[in-house]
Amino acid sequence: MSRSHLAGALALYSELHDGRPLDLPRRWLYRLAGERLGVVVLDISGRVVGAAFYGFSRRDLREGRVHSSFSGVHPSHRGRGLATELRRSAILHFHANGVRGYSARISVDNAASLKPSLRLGFRIIERYRDPSSGEQRCYLVCDFATDYFTEGQLAKDKLGRAAQAPEVEAQAQALTTDRQRNAAS
Ligand SMILES: CC(C)(COP(=O)(O)OP(=O)(O)OC[C@H]1O[C@@H](n2cnc3c(N)ncnc32)[C@H](O)[C@@H]1OP(=O)(O)O)[C@@H](O)C(=O)NCCC(=O)NCCS
Repeated sequence: MSRSHLAGALALYSELHDGRPLDLPRRWLYRLAGERLGVVVLDISGRVVGAAFYGFSRRDLREGRVHSSFSGVHPSHRGRGLATELRRSAILHFHANGVRGYSARISVDNAASLKPSLRLGFRIIERYRDPSSGEQRCYLVCDFATDYFTEGQLAKDKLGRAAQAPEVEAQAQALTTDRQRNAAS
């Protein structure tokens, strides 16, 4: 994410959070290090329509992974694989820069976010209830050397992304069902 795209990325973040801006420390972080810690998708006119912000928690630093703070795609561009490609670009960038893996926290009912992650090889290693929102969430990791499904691996089968879909659908479905069961009990 070049400095010239930061304003567009922040505007998208705010639009996807009911007008709430990214907090000030992170706005400064991406102003100073956005080229290394951010990825954007542009439409044909150069407008930012997708953005992903990365950082490091203590746990990530200890475990050698980068953490996804947030990724979002403008509603008018969803369902076309942009989030998948945002994440893939980040994986290639961080892998090339010596990072071991990538972690994320996703709500179990956010199938639109879980699917692109599971498709790229992320593993769910923890499920928990978020103490502040009460939501069921999972902590996922993708270690580049062992977990990542390259574009080539996905394209090997002529069906490409669809080849992964039944497995991914099953995992996303299992999470949603677990959540409903827990809510009912
Ligand atoms: C999550 C988000 C980034 C996904 O962006 P996207 O560009 O549409 O993602 P992709 O197209 O790469 O993949 C989404 C997949 O989920 C599927 N999907 C979308 N909504 C779904 C739903 N409600 N139930 C099941 N699957 C769903 C899509 O069909 C697609 O799968 P497919 O490629 O097999 O058809 C976007 O929905 C978004 O910005 N959401 C709001 C912000 C957010 O939740 N961010 C994540 C925070 S962790």
